[in-house]
Amino acid sequence: MIAKTARPADPCSLVIFGASGDLTHRLLVPALYNLGVAGLLPDAFALVGVARSESSSERFREDLAKSLPKFATRKIDNAVVEKLLACVAYVQGGPDDPQTYDKIAQELARIERERKTGGNRLFYLATPPAGFVPIGCHLGESGLAREADGAWRRIIIEKPFGTDLASARALNRKLLGILKEDQIFRIDHYLGKETVQNILVLRFANGLFEPIWNRNHIDHVQITVAEALTVGRRGSYYDATGALRDMVPNHLFQLLSLVAMEPPSRFAADAVRAAKAELLDAVQLETRDEALRNAVRAQYVEGAIDNRAVEAYRATRDVAPDSTTETYVALKLMIDNWRWAGVPFYLRTGKALRTKLTEVAIKFKQAPVAMFRDTPIENLTQNFLVLGIQPNECIGLEFSAKVPGPTISIGGVGMTFKYEDYFEAAPSTGYETLIYDCMIGDAILYPRADGIEAGWHVVQPFMDAWRDAGGHGLATYRAGSDGPSQADRLLAQDGRRWRAIA
Ligand code: BG6
Repeated sequence: MIAKTARPADPCSLVIFGASGDLTHRLLVPALYNLGVAGLLPDAFALVGVARSESSSERFREDLAKSLPKFATRKIDNAVVEKLLACVAYVQGGPDDPQTYDKIAQELARIERERKTGGNRLFYLATPPAGFVPIGCHLGESGLAREADGAWRRIIIEKPFGTDLASARALNRKLLGILKEDQIFRIDHYLGKETVQNILVLRFANGLFEPIWNRNHIDHVQITVAEALTVGRRGSYYDATGALRDMVPNHLFQLLSLVAMEPPSRFAADAVRAAKAELLDAVQLETRDEALRNAVRAQYVEGAIDNRAVEAYRATRDVAPDSTTETYVALKLMIDNWRWAGVPFYLRTGKALRTKLTEVAIKFKQAPVAMFRDTPIENLTQNFLVLGIQPNECIGLEFSAKVPGPTISIGGVGMTFKYEDYFEAAPSTGYETLIYDCMIGDAILYPRADGIEAGWHVVQPFMDAWRDAGGHGLATYRAGSDGPSQADRLLAQDGRRWRAIA
């Protein structure tokens, strides 16, 4: 995480594979620009784009000069843009072609001589996941990723890290055969969100919450990642993936582990990542029958979002007309440790819902004595601590208060802290901290191999049970709704209910 007294990152070259793609233009280069504005990019820096497309360093620089103002999150400062683009180079070549790596080596040798980047290299694999292992192998075999003479060599990859437990293990094994764990940085973009990082600070920089952060005081936890977006043009990726794989073992489990992990002994990458992996290891593994009972999967049918008609998922381009892929999932998970025994964690995520809402809601137990006899206990406001992540970045506490007047009557009230009221946050892409951290070698926000595998371990029984069940048990919900009624029943059978998606 970027400290207030942060220094510029280490001198280095950043080599982006997939440089002509969307991620590079939309997010990575604007993030580098923001780091430049904040004075966190080193003077000795170079950016090398690698892609198949016919281009040159000059053309690549021109392309970036055009796309940066389009995607920048802050006002353009020409001096910073010029400084950033002065050190841009392009290597044309396919990721499977050994010659590509010879060309990269030549380019890096020149840059390291001229710009004095000290031999530090960061390889960003902004490619489809099928490229991770082949590119990693070439980087290993060509010696480009070998650390020597005090220079570091690191790679960044983005989810998906496998498509199930076996493939995640195989990917980790292969990568760890080429590189050391501390050279591999796996991005989960949820950890780039300020409010997600703030979960750590809220829990561990305040004495107030920790004593009540356990089964004695907490009734249950709800984690919601609702999207109003439809599958849109991502039909072929999404139909082979589904809501569970796309969101749960990565983004939702990051939220789950930050909220539920034990306090790490130090605010350091290994301690934090060990605590997160241990938490995921403690999630009760379901049998197939339990998996079917404790999960709801559903697919959206046609409806309307914000008065706009939305076609059914099955009518989406590149989606099979009889697809049984889920676009919504709700799970009930239990955690087998002393802190959380008996406290359900309900997770839900889906596409084409009423609105976008990402939040973690912690429900505290009711007051033990029904003292206000004339006020039925159900009328007491439920005590929720709500960590709002998107679109409103806030922390809210909901509780009961006396309604003014001569009789005792109880009303629900809330206190809300909004980030914007206290801090002036410069709009960011969400990648700044992650890229900067990698450049300074701080992996605190990067999931480690054991955490990734622990996540897949938890979701595997659900995937197995659904694969065997085929379309049987797949519910539907209207686009623009709050999700399927079966998800309401999942909580109702425990005497609870979801918070509204509003
Ligand atoms: C991505 C998923 O990882 O996260 C997408 O592949 C999803 O399907 C996205 O829309 C959600 O990210 P955010 O930051 O908009 O909540």
